[in-house]
Amino acid sequence: MTSIDILMPRPMLPIVQEQLDAAFTVHRLYEADDPEAMLAEIGEKIRGVAMAFGPVNAEFLAKVPNAEIVSSFGVGYDHINTDDCLAANVMVTHTPDVLTEEVADTALGLMIMTIREFGQAEQWLRQGNWESKGPYKLTGATMQGRTLGIFGLGRIGKAIAKRAEAFGMTIHYHGRHKQDDISYPYHATSKELAAACDTLMVVAPGGEETRHAVNAEVLEALGPDGIVINIGRGTVIDEEALIAALENGTIYGAGLDVFEKEPHVPDALLKLPRVTVLPHVGSASQATRNAMGQRVVDNLKSWFETGKAISPVPEMRSA
Ligand code: NAP
Ligand code: 8YV
Repeated sequence: MTSIDILMPRPMLPIVQEQLDAAFTVHRLYEADDPEAMLAEIGEKIRGVAMAFGPVNAEFLAKVPNAEIVSSFGVGYDHINTDDCLAANVMVTHTPDVLTEEVADTALGLMIMTIREFGQAEQWLRQGNWESKGPYKLTGATMQGRTLGIFGLGRIGKAIAKRAEAFGMTIHYHGRHKQDDISYPYHATSKELAAACDTLMVVAPGGEETRHAVNAEVLEALGPDGIVINIGRGTVIDEEALIAALENGTIYGAGLDVFEKEPHVPDALLKLPRVTVLPHVGSASQATRNAMGQRVVDNLKSWFETGKAISPVPEMRSA
């Protein structure tokens, strides 16, 4: 196994590094003074890539012409051009399932924080205001009686729905397809979904297909009591339109774990009073990240031992 050369463009978790070092010859691009020169020197012998962020496209693949597999950390793979990978006969794997429950927990936490303003209330206490000025103000919004529109009722969306049901929420959803085994009302467009709910949970993948699917019109349809939660990808929401909608009261509030240009978060968003922001921590517990890292390793090992990957991205399964 050690004769197989693996490229690691950026640092990965210790659990990944240790196991890859034990099984393969690992080349750490981020340690090179001149990464391009290193790639030019070793690119041809690379047979696999272990990575968390992209981009992976034709230009990158040309530098590792004998790569057979890109093993990506995370379930979302919008940083990978799967058409280019298919054209180059490169397998792409990701890490679904092992993070589903963690991300759903985060989504519920973020939704409740946003609706009941717990972040702001905590700041009130920490800044001494409770003692000097009195209790934090009553929140204008409540979890009670809300209708949750899930944009992307996949693995994580369903885990969110299960939790939201326990909170007494009514659930609707939107995706490209109506799911036969799902009884929640289906909406063919994000605008129709927004019009039918007051809390919009975005948990769809990023990429060109979903880019700005939540735009000014959708936010208008959500209405003045509307809360948007984004645990999916920043690019799904038109961030400028979101800021405008929050500033002029088109919607009530927003809870965001992901942003259009991470790690940059626009000042205008941070200045708004009914916005909760998290630094993309949906899956970020040690246990869940380790399980994701283990899957990165297992996909590579399985590929080189058996010629089969454990969790190929859907495009590879249908190819
Ligand atoms: P999944 O099981 O593939 O679910 C994705 C859902 O989105 C599907 O129900 C799909 O339904 C829908 N969808 C896909 N493309 C769409 C489109 N163009 N328009 C409308 N709906 C579309 O994936 P998952 O495991 O639940 O993960 C979902 C996403 O969450 C990931 O892709 C990732 O971006 C994000 N995520 C974020 C974090 C975080 O830390 N914040 C962590 C993990 C994942 P149809 O096929 O019917 O369209
Ligand atoms: C990861 C995520 O933090 O899985 C995903 O799609 O967004 C997160 O779980 C991220 O992918 C790490 O690169």
